[in-house]
Formats: sequence, C-alpha cells, structure tokens
Amino acid sequence: MKFHIMTLFPEMIEQTLSSSIIGNANSQDLIHIQPVNIRDFSKNKHKKVDDYPYGGGAGMVMQPQPIMDAYRHIQTYTKKNTKVIYLTPQGKPFNQEMAESFAKEEALIFLCGHYEGVDERVIESIVTEEISIGDYILTGGELAVMVMIDCISRLVPGVLGNSDSHDIETFDQGLIEYPQYTRPAEYEGQVVPEVLLSGHHLNIERWRYEQSLIRTAIKRPDLYDKLTLTVSDEAFVKKSLQK
Ligand code: ADE
Repeated sequence: MKFHIMTLFPEMIEQTLSSSIIGNANSQDLIHIQPVNIRDFSKNKHKKVDDYPYGGGAGMVMQPQPIMDAYRHIQTYTKKNTKVIYLTPQGKPFNQEMAESFAKEEALIFLCGHYEGVDERVIESIVTEEISIGDYILTGGELAVMVMIDCISRLVPGVLGNSDSHDIETFDQGLIEYPQYTRPAEYEGQVVPEVLLSGHHLNIERWRYEQSLIRTAIKRPDLYDKLTLTVSDEAFVKKSLQK
C-alpha cells in the first residue's frame, strides 16, 4: 500500500511515521510512505507557495501551481484513478469503516493544507474526497494525515505482528473492548477477575463479551443504541446497570 503525501512539512511526516509499528512496516516494504514537498515544485524564484486571498481577509491561501505540479509529478508513477484526499475540518468525519475501505486501495494521495486553506480550483480539479479527523481546527493537515495513515496501515495484512489482534477490538461488532489484565494477579490489593485465571475458555469468552456489552452501554451509549441485541443480552445489561 502506497501513501503519497503532498505537504509543506515533509520532515514532520518522515519523523513521526518512521518509528514504531508504522516505521517497521515502512522499512519492511509492507507500506510505502512518500512525502512530496510542495515547495519543491514552486516556479517562484523565492519558492513562494502562498498569497493573499482575493477579496481580502485574514491569512494566506496556498496557490494552485505548486500543488498541481506536485500532483502531476505523483501521477507519473501512480494509476490515474488513485483517490486524492484533502484533509480539512470541512470534510466527512473519518471513522473505522472508512479506514477499512481505504485499506483496500493500492495507493492513496493526500493533500495537506496550511494557512487559510488551498485555492478552491485545486479542490475542484483533483480532490476526490475531503476528510476531517474531528470537529476541531488544526494548524495544518499533517497531523490529520498521520492519524489516517496510522489507522489504515494497521489494517494492511502483515503490519500488525499478531494477525488476529485487530479482530477482537474496539468497534468490532460495534462494541468497545473488554478490560485487559496481565501479571501480577494481585497488585496493591487489586485482583484480576477470577474467571480470567480459570483457564475455562468458554467462560472467559462469555465474560469478555458481557464486559464489552456493559462498557459500551456505560462509556459509549451512542454506540450501544445502535446495537441489535438478543433479549437475554439486553436483560443482562439492564440488570448489570441496576447494580
Ligand atoms: N486540517 C485542520 N484541521 C483539520 C481537521 N480537524 N481534520 C483534518 N484536517 C484538518
């Protein structure tokens, strides 16, 4: 899976995505992260990439020429129909389902905006999706693109060491994760639930499922309301919450 990122701050992306799981995946060629410096494509003698907005107003706007030339450069080695994602608080809110769908693509091109945004003509001519990582304003799209790449990469086969560790996790079946414990069995008077020490796999599985149900009801009532539960599961949660 290839990620091509048009940015004014390639070093920010290189540094962050070169460590940990994503860094390892990159060096093992399971994914390929390629930041492209928009400034390198500026035809201005001072390598200028932005200018004042027509009509006045605060801030600067990124000009079309350097971005379009950076895009044309990327296009020389990617397929014509590769999706172009523009990171913006005006975009569709990013979620796990979108990550799963993007993980099926061979390559993705990202555009990180800065200042007051990018010239609208760029968005009209090359952007296929506008995505936001949440209802807050960042100084640029770089942190947002890193969130997306982290999330998509871990779904690429081979990136996570333990192949099933993303099967049973938060949001799988619309439930949040059950509590996890490790050694010691008792720490400062706090004990690990008995059932986890029992070695009885069916009971452990049932307990974990119940914990996921209760936690979803308490911590994420918005997700809980979307579940279709059996009558007995629903009764179980009601009873547990009354305790
Ligand atoms: N750029 C600035 N803020 C952003 C956000 N919340 N999501 C994606 N891109 C952004």
